[in-house]
Amino acid sequence: MINRETIDKIMDTARIEEVVGDFVHLKKRGTSLIGNCPFHGEKTPSFHVSVTKGIYKCFGCGKGGDSVRFIMDHEKYSYPEALKFLANKYNIEVAETELSPEAAEAQSAKESLYIVSQYASAFFVKQLWDTEEGRGIGLSYFKERGFREDILKKFEVGYSPDVWDALTQSATNAGHKLEFLESTGLSIKNDSGKIYDRFRGRVMFPIHNFTGRIIGFGGRTLKTDKNVPKYVNSPESEIYHKSNVLYGLFHAKKAIRDLDNCYLAEGYADVLSVHQAGIENVVASSGTSLTVEQIKLIGRFTQNITILFDGDAAGIKASLRGLDMILEEGLNVKIVSFPDGHDPDSYMHHVGAGAFKTYLEQNRKDFILYKANVLLKDAGNDPIKRAGIIRDIVESIAKIPDQIKASVFIRECSSLLEISEQVLSGELTKMRSAKLKKSFDGNQRSNQSAAPKQSFSSFSSGPPEPLGPPDDLWDDSVGPMGYEPQEPAKEEEYQEKEIVRLLLAYGHEFVNWDKIDDMYIGPFIMQNLADVEFDDPLCKKIIDYYKSEIDNGRLPTANHFITHKEREIADLAITLSSSEHALSENWLNKHLIYVKDESMNLKATILGGIFHLKKRKVENILMSLLKEIKEEKDADNQMILMQRYGVIKGVEREISKFLGSVIVK
Ligand code: CTP
Ligand code: MN
Repeated sequence: MINRETIDKIMDTARIEEVVGDFVHLKKRGTSLIGNCPFHGEKTPSFHVSVTKGIYKCFGCGKGGDSVRFIMDHEKYSYPEALKFLANKYNIEVAETELSPEAAEAQSAKESLYIVSQYASAFFVKQLWDTEEGRGIGLSYFKERGFREDILKKFEVGYSPDVWDALTQSATNAGHKLEFLESTGLSIKNDSGKIYDRFRGRVMFPIHNFTGRIIGFGGRTLKTDKNVPKYVNSPESEIYHKSNVLYGLFHAKKAIRDLDNCYLAEGYADVLSVHQAGIENVVASSGTSLTVEQIKLIGRFTQNITILFDGDAAGIKASLRGLDMILEEGLNVKIVSFPDGHDPDSYMHHVGAGAFKTYLEQNRKDFILYKANVLLKDAGNDPIKRAGIIRDIVESIAKIPDQIKASVFIRECSSLLEISEQVLSGELTKMRSAKLKKSFDGNQRSNQSAAPKQSFSSFSSGPPEPLGPPDDLWDDSVGPMGYEPQEPAKEEEYQEKEIVRLLLAYGHEFVNWDKIDDMYIGPFIMQNLADVEFDDPLCKKIIDYYKSEIDNGRLPTANHFITHKEREIADLAITLSSSEHALSENWLNKHLIYVKDESMNLKATILGGIFHLKKRKVENILMSLLKEIKEEKDADNQMILMQRYGVIKGVEREISKFLGSVIVK
């Protein structure tokens, strides 16, 4: 049991923004901090932290609470575990005896794996510093390589004695169960039942998860024998999943957040050396090729990655393709390479900390331009090879989700490759539309069906400008004042019917609009309305059918619906197809949806239809929120609702602004 005094102390000390900030990349917006919710997948932030109240609240999934609650939810800890975690973070002493192995046994098996890993780490550290073999072999090796003692201590490096079962013996004598030693891979049982240590005669690098618990090890041999593997690593276990771990993240995360950049190296030694040079925002993928999970992990702390490449040219060329994955995740990628034969570690020790730091700052190149340069050098004057480069580069650019960013790269690469911008963007458009066609023809479910209903977060793959809410949304002055509710039902029905009409009339037209990928209008409309629920039952039926056809790789025509066996569907289709003015004249005049010749101004017509409907749906939400606010008695809840109102109001404004710019009156 943890006593009341300790609990109070923990609660007084733990700051919500720091506790949450370890897991979520928080940005200041007005008076609150916001970020992407760690409890449900989202690309636009709806997770709020109130520093003054000491609480967090996600408006997407509804999770909320204080620091302890956050740790319990996020780390799947019990209440006392979460308290201990926070106590540990803030160096608060918990009045409790250390767990005996017997008590540990009672804990969950997973917890036991952490405990035995922690035990092993302490064992290796003790061997390194306090034994003759450890100091003579392990420590002197590190010293020879130029590592400072404070760095070795910070990263808790150790030494495993060159004995068959030193750790196994020591751990079992201390009461740890063999079962856990085996499931962490620290001990291995051979066919004849003999138990021995995985790590023997190696310097040891413990691997922490990003909350600081030890989950595995890498052990480097000190032998030069080519038959001995250079590194032996912990196997995957219940606590160690290699694909979502980055070596050094625990020590780097604060600096990554503060400096808004993460250096990514390859090895343990690189991380230690870069740290030693005073650069703490560095992690390593540790020999495995970079995974999407690892990129997402970095993305929690920063949107900027700088890759530190070893010097060898062939290796660099081979790894370039893997980096497109980072672009796909929407992160910015920069590259620093080192003179031939050097990796970050060797170069740091070669030139010294100060010069190394300067080198990183002065040799940071943007990934795409770097790639273009590497490939150009490689191609020399061979025209065929040079042509191949264009494709290769544009392929990378096509991965960048932000189209404005992509067009900047097109411009820069155009001068670098001495190819006109038009040719490059033509290539880009081709590639994007091929990708689209592929997913379209390939019978794949398009992601539109996975989009959350009524989220309004992804309100377009079309117009790039109004993506996401504007910055001033979080301004507290945006409130429910000044909103005039109106009777929406009838108008909404017209707007839904208008969408159906547009689908029937233009759905199968292939268009090429400025700033929008080439595509068919039908899928374009569906994609943009993925987050909208249709209320009119008949419209909903048609929309659902249309969507399922697209999901199956077919593009329905008006005829499809006109000849539909369900009478009411056919009737509506006929009405909507027969006349431009089938809908209420009144409504049309009010909104000026129809321009004189709508097919001449198709883009405005389609976007107008989509965004008028979106606006209507948003207004509905605002209205019901307003009602909720009025009825809510609790002041805190009311605050939360009002904040939410402000956010959605901003979305509405943004839509109106967009409509104003797109509709030609
Ligand atoms: N690695 C591995 N197994 C190997 C070789 C490498 O797991 N046989 C992983 C390790 O995580 C290592 C990383 O790949 O840190 C990079 O390899 P390398 O550059 O060879 O290792 P360094 O850490 O740089 O080690 P050193 O500088 O001591 O040679
Ligand atoms: Mn190295």
